[in-house]
Amino acid sequence: QYVLYGDKIVEREHASIDLEDRGYNFGDGIYEVVYIYGGKPFSMEEHFKRFADSAAKLEMKLPYTLETVNDLTVKLIEANKIHNGIVYIQMTRGASPRNHLYDRDSACLITGFARKMDPPVQAQENGIKTYLTEDIRWLRCDIKTLNLLGNTMAKRKAADHGCHEALQHREGTCTEGSSSNLFIIKKGTLYTHPATNLILNGITRQHILKIANEQGIDIAEEAFSTRDLIHADEVFLSSTTMEIAPVIAVTGDEEGEFPIGPVTRLLQKKLKEKIK
Ligand code: PDD
Repeated sequence: QYVLYGDKIVEREHASIDLEDRGYNFGDGIYEVVYIYGGKPFSMEEHFKRFADSAAKLEMKLPYTLETVNDLTVKLIEANKIHNGIVYIQMTRGASPRNHLYDRDSACLITGFARKMDPPVQAQENGIKTYLTEDIRWLRCDIKTLNLLGNTMAKRKAADHGCHEALQHREGTCTEGSSSNLFIIKKGTLYTHPATNLILNGITRQHILKIANEQGIDIAEEAFSTRDLIHADEVFLSSTTMEIAPVIAVTGDEEGEFPIGPVTRLLQKKLKEKIK
């Protein structure tokens, strides 16, 4: 397996991370996950635009241009001969003697790996069960940082209740999944939380809103409650790795069951067409 280490593609055993890398000590870093379909990365430009935005929000300087990040990522995919899979790219603020105070001029370190992965056809076709729980994350969920403990704890809780994904809410207002965005359909209108500091503005989310607009579906980028969620006609989740996964059940703080409806199916179909 080949990995990206700085500006080089090297064998995995030749890459090493310093014990005082700030990503390791503080979770001081950012990342992106891009899906590879038939050897081609999907929406890579959008992903790296968000990567640059995350870096700017944390005052991290890219060690080279976005174009170079792009080129290195393509090389990484090719070196690993990935047909269907993901590429993971992260950047930390690099190594320095442990100190909470960060330096705006730190030499950041970009690393990455690629892995084969087939689209989760089962989840896309048959839908998934979800677990609704309190959103305990920090208030900058718009930044795609390595700090994911709130997310991983929610995912663990969901799995412990036999669910595939956690749905999170802040005092009754639905935000997003632990690693996905949440949508509901009520009386033909598509609702999703606005792209504020409380959610990650998913690339898949943005594609879906564009498609819905093209299809003449009414869109409301408005916060909705857990009650609205339970009384929705259709519910689904979106992410790079899942595309669109219908939600067939919610348990946890509220409970409900949902059919896989026509709007979800239409959006799934149109998104697939875009990807291929
Ligand atoms: N997760 N919200 C959160 C908290 C996420 O972690 C993700 C993606 C999304 C969906 O974003 P996008 O459509 O750009 O993938 C929303 C990735 C896949 C991950 O961490 O593995």
